[in-house]
Amino acid sequence: MEFFIDTANPNEIRKAFEMGVIDGVTTNPTLISKENRDFLPLVREICEIIKGLPISLEVLSLKSEGMIEEARNLAEIGNNVVVKIPMTAEGLRAIKTLGAEGIKTNTTLVFSPTQALLAAKAGTTYVSPFIGRLDDISQTGMDLVEQIVAIFKNYRFGSKVIVSSIRHPIHVVEAALIGADVATIPYKVIDQLVQHPLTDIGIEKFLEDWKKVPKR
Ligand code: E4P
Repeated sequence: MEFFIDTANPNEIRKAFEMGVIDGVTTNPTLISKENRDFLPLVREICEIIKGLPISLEVLSLKSEGMIEEARNLAEIGNNVVVKIPMTAEGLRAIKTLGAEGIKTNTTLVFSPTQALLAAKAGTTYVSPFIGRLDDISQTGMDLVEQIVAIFKNYRFGSKVIVSSIRHPIHVVEAALIGADVATIPYKVIDQLVQHPLTDIGIEKFLEDWKKVPKR
């Protein structure tokens, strides 16, 4: 299972990358806006840190022509750039064209299995079901991941499933049990994955006991 980090914060990306468990980065306009910095220098700094790993950057146009133009510009930043396209009819058209040009896409804001199926048929590289936002409105987001993974397996679609809008470690465990390709995880949750109080207690006890070992 691949782990992407869901942030545009260079410090968080650096810390997670140094842990050695990060396979890519996802951003969105909200995450970029939180950094309060010019877009291009920020993205270039992130690209320096992640050294060729995939980074998803989102288009803002609503029409396919605009999405395609933006995507071509974003793809110029580096060949690790994956262009995030919203799941709309215009988006599907853009995905098809971009795929033919060899530009990787991540279909974002996916909330139903039919949307995922359409994105896969259009040839998207990744689909991003937003499970936390479904949980927020009392629908079990992980059910959607289960459906998409089964559908893609049935028809051997090459598109990868990125479990997105992750809110806590149980989401990561459930995504892994289902066999999703990728989980994109906020830094705070990556940190929570590391921690266990029994690990801390165990280390403390071993260090204490080591003091009792005679040293010559
Ligand atoms: C995914 O690529 C999105 O950036 C992200 O997971 C959205 O998460 P949110 O619902 O917590 O904003």
